[in-house]
Amino acid sequence: MSLSIAWQDGVVEAVDQCALPHEYRLLRLSTPGEVIDAIQRLAIRGAPAIGVAGALAVAMSARAHTRDGVCDEAAVRADAQRIADARPTAVNLSWAVRRVVGKLSGGADAVLAEAYDILTEDEKRNRAAADEAADLVQRLCGRRPLRLLTHCNTGRLATVAWGTALGAIRVLAGNGHVTEVLFGETRPLLQGARLTAWELAEAGIPHRMLVDSAGPAALASGMVDCVLVGADRVCANGDVANKIGTYSLALAAHRAGVPFIVVAPESTLDLSLASGADILIEERSAAEVTAFGGVEVAPAGTEVFNPAFDVTPAELITAVVTESGLFGPLRTTLLTSTVSERAS
Ligand code: MRU
Repeated sequence: MSLSIAWQDGVVEAVDQCALPHEYRLLRLSTPGEVIDAIQRLAIRGAPAIGVAGALAVAMSARAHTRDGVCDEAAVRADAQRIADARPTAVNLSWAVRRVVGKLSGGADAVLAEAYDILTEDEKRNRAAADEAADLVQRLCGRRPLRLLTHCNTGRLATVAWGTALGAIRVLAGNGHVTEVLFGETRPLLQGARLTAWELAEAGIPHRMLVDSAGPAALASGMVDCVLVGADRVCANGDVANKIGTYSLALAAHRAGVPFIVVAPESTLDLSLASGADILIEERSAAEVTAFGGVEVAPAGTEVFNPAFDVTPAELITAVVTESGLFGPLRTTLLTSTVSERAS
């Protein structure tokens, strides 16, 4: 599987997620400012992917601010802050930036080595989380063909490779256990329509797109066996921030008695926040909503609420699955119940 982000001779190469599905092209970004712009435009998007890009951007800054073997740490730290602030909700970005800044005293090469480690770990960690999640889905739903529902894009594009929730769907499909994947279009930037549809087609997995507001109806009418989504930040109490629309799917899944599984690498955990009430939710521009395909659709001056994410409370989530297994307060209950179900 080709990587969606790579480091090539001092340049970040990344799949341009704004160009898909019409064109598959690579961006070549050679300054931290260009990486910040790509992250803010969502040309690079998805929590793990922006973390990797952010770490590489700090490495670029460290190289650029090194003269005669001496690194201007203050200048790099200032760039690092701008990079970490590019998007506020996905904790992977500030986590990755902090991790590479921690190597600054070792010079630019040490920063780059750490950024490179984050990049190479990403596929392994997400793959492990995806395997764990697929195993849990089969324990909860049975080893049989399943109808799955996902939201936004959590696949290879949102990570370096493989993906989180979509990675688990790949594993299940590889086992012959997927009848169909339903996914929301993901208004307003259409990560579902443009990116998840493209990835599922690329992987040869049967799929059908829903208007976002149809997700709860699909759950209520028995069209879904399990919901699998990714995360941008998971708090200490198990509350999860993810793409706007996740919360309504969780409410509907809870009501319908359908398992709701969150798949994320441990870099998405933020144990410094007690609950989802503390998460800063990014609000994006009104223009993303007032126009469609370049055509204005709302009367000029219409006020807009355009949050990029929402928070799903832990009590609506069956499990948060990382590369280390189940996370959070639900862990004990779920392990006990799946063990006793298997025994009975
Ligand atoms: O605004 P986006 O497209 O970056 O939002 C992405 C999501 O909400 C994903 O579900 C999340 O980052 C998990 S990606 C593996």
